Amino acid sequence: MTVRSSFVVVANRLPVDEVTTDEGRQWRRSPGGLVTALHPVLAEHKGTWVGWAGGTSEEAPEPFDLEGIHIHPVPLTANDLERYYEGMSNATIWPLYHDAVETPVFKRRWRESYRLVNARFAEAAAEVAAEGATVWIQDYQLQLVPAMLRERRPDLKIGFFLHIPFPPIELFMQMPFRAEILRGLLGADLIGFQQRLAAQNFVRLARHLLGLRYEGQVIDVDGRPVKAGAFPISIDVAEMERMAADPAVQARAKQIRAELGDPRMVILGVDRLDYTKGIELRLKAFRELLSDGKLSVPEAVMVQVATPSRERVEHYQTLRVKVEREVGRINGEFGRVGVPAVHYLHQSYSRTELAALYCAADVMMVTPLRDGMNLVAKEYVAARADTGGALVLSEFAGAATELRQSFLCNPHDPDGVKEALLRAVHVEHPEARRRMRLMQRHLRTHDVGHWARSFLNELGVPDVEAA
Ligand code: ADP
Ligand code: G6P
Repeated sequence: MTVRSSFVVVANRLPVDEVTTDEGRQWRRSPGGLVTALHPVLAEHKGTWVGWAGGTSEEAPEPFDLEGIHIHPVPLTANDLERYYEGMSNATIWPLYHDAVETPVFKRRWRESYRLVNARFAEAAAEVAAEGATVWIQDYQLQLVPAMLRERRPDLKIGFFLHIPFPPIELFMQMPFRAEILRGLLGADLIGFQQRLAAQNFVRLARHLLGLRYEGQVIDVDGRPVKAGAFPISIDVAEMERMAADPAVQARAKQIRAELGDPRMVILGVDRLDYTKGIELRLKAFRELLSDGKLSVPEAVMVQVATPSRERVEHYQTLRVKVEREVGRINGEFGRVGVPAVHYLHQSYSRTELAALYCAADVMMVTPLRDGMNLVAKEYVAARADTGGALVLSEFAGAATELRQSFLCNPHDPDGVKEALLRAVHVEHPEARRRMRLMQRHLRTHDVGHWARSFLNELGVPDVEAA
C-alpha cells in the first residue's frame, strides 16, 4: 500500500547509498546538507522523498523506510540516463545556466526524454502526496515537474528550489523549448533561487517570454500568484564544527601535513571535477607564481581533490585531460623525486577526511567561473573554528555575497587570482583570524536549517522545525 505524506521532497537523487555489508546489500543515508536540513521536517511529517536510486533498470526498488523517511525510488533506464541525465540535464541545461562557460549541446531526442522522466517524477509525487500536502521539488533536472504535478493535483502546495544559477534572459532564450521550461517552473507557488539577481532574471523573463505581469517578486499566472525569491542555501554548520573539533580529525590533519612533508604553506582545492569550478585556472595561477619565484616547492604545496563526476559527458572527459595535463606540467617543472608540487586526487572522500583536509590547509582556493552557491567554501570556514586559514573565493560563486571577508577574486583575470592567492598566503595571523571569525559568525546564524525554514515558511508551511 502506498504511504501518503503531508510533506514530500522530489529530487533527482535519493538521499541514500546502497552499501554491501556482512548482512548483504543495504541502504544507508548518504551524507549531505539537503537531507540533514530536511530530515527533521520529513521525520515530523512522516515525509516521503521521491528520487532516483542510482543505477539503471526498468523497475525501481520497492519503496522502503529509512530513519523515519519514506523512500520512494523512481527508475531510470539506460536510455533515460543517457538522454535525460547526461544529455538534457548535464550537457544542455547545466552549461547554459552556468553562463555557457562550455558550449551547451542541444539535441531534440534529449528533450523528449527530459519530458518523459519529469512526468514519471510528477506521477510518483502525485501518488505519494496526501490531500493538501506540501511538495518541494529540487533543481534543474526537474523543472517541468511543478506544472505537471499541479495539473494532476491542484490541491497541493508546490515549492521549487533551483540550486544552480538562473541565467540572464539573453542566455535563457537560447533554450529551444524555453517557454515549456518556464511554464513548468511556474506551476509552483514559490520558486527559490540562490541569489536575488537570479530571482529578478526570472520574473523579468516571465514578462519577456510569456507577457506575464508581476509586482515586486510576485508573478500573476492566470490569476494565480507565483512568488520568486532568494534563499541562499547553506551547510550543517554545527556538524562541521563538531567534526573539525574531534581529536581524531585534528590528529588526521596533522598527519596529512606530515605526509605532505610539513610544508610551510598547504594550498587546497576540493571540487567535483567540473569545468565550472575553475580548477585549471587555479593550477595555472599556482604554476605562474612558482615560475615567478613568488612561491616555491617544498615550502608551498598544493593539494587538489577532484571528485569524479558525470564521467560519460564529453565536456567532463575533455576537462579531465586538461587538468591532468596541467598537473603533470607543474610537477614536471617544479617537483622533485618524492616531492610533487601538486598532489592531485581524483577520488571521493568521507566527510571526516574532508574535514581533516580543511583543517590541514593554510589557504583554500574556491575559484569557480560560475557557481550557484559553493558549499565547499562554507565548509572550510565552518571547519576553521581555530580561526586559522584563509579563503580565496571567486566573485562568481553565490557564496561570495555572504563570505565578504574572504580574499575575493575575478577568476577570469589570471593576475587577479595570483594576487588574491599571494594576499592569502601572506596575511598576518590577527587579520586572518578577524576575517574568519566574522564569516563564522554569519554562518552560525545562516545554516542549512535556516535555509529550509525560510523557504518553507514563505511557502506557508507554518512553524517548521528544521535542523
Ligand atoms: P557542487 O554541488 O557543484 O558539487 P558544492 O561545493 O556546492 O558543489 O558542493 C559539493 C559537496 O560535495 C560539498 O558538500 C563537498 O564537501 C562534497 N565533496 C566535494 N568533493 C568531495 C570529495 N572528493 N569527496 C567527498 N565529498 C566531496
Ligand atoms: C550539483 C547539483 C545537484 C547534483 C550535484 C551532483 O550540486 O546542483 O543537483 O546532485 O551537483 O551532481 P550529480 O550529477 O552527480 O547528481
